[in-house]
Amino acid sequence: MKAPGTISLRTVLFLSMLISSWGCSDMTDQASFRSQDTPHVLPPAGSVPVTGMELFDGTTRIENPEPATATSIQKGRELFGVNCSMCHGPEGRGDGKVGEVMAPPGPPNLHGDTVQGLDDFDLFVRLTYGYGRMPGFRTRLAASDRWHLVNYVKDLR
Ligand code: HEC
Repeated sequence: MKAPGTISLRTVLFLSMLISSWGCSDMTDQASFRSQDTPHVLPPAGSVPVTGMELFDGTTRIENPEPATATSIQKGRELFGVNCSMCHGPEGRGDGKVGEVMAPPGPPNLHGDTVQGLDDFDLFVRLTYGYGRMPGFRTRLAASDRWHLVNYVKDLR
């Protein structure tokens, strides 16, 4: 006869098995190192890698690393012609061939107050991850090219 309030050995065993099996489901997610591997070193907070995998997470505010020089704006203009003008129009007025047939009406005039009211970081996030029906360019354009585009869009003002 058990005293009330005590638990049997079987219950203890069952609970300990349950707890140890919970742990197992995380094994695939853990950081793993091969033998002789050094631990992975994370980049400094706020840095934007220009080579390799991009680690920008879209929430940490970062400064535009590309000064808005004539060269940068010119690069942005060329990139715009190839990647954006079919929707946004050659001058960014929202009248590209693809943009024109969008219903409900699509690309906004990039010269307008709404877009010009956005700062560099907000524009970069939209170009990186996309915005509504606009695709993101995270995997299509290098981060530096997206910043050149930001400089071009701001120059339309
Ligand atoms: C497939 C068509 C398409 C392409 C390509 C495209 N956009 Fe857009 N863009 C849109 C649409 C549509 C919107 C408005 C959002 C909506 O209606 O869903 C938009 C919105 C924007 C905005 C305004 C965001 C806001 O907060 O109001 C900016 C800035 C912009 N695009 C810049 C660009 C740039 C720069 C490129 C090229 C790198 C580009 N877009 C490529 C369709 C496009």
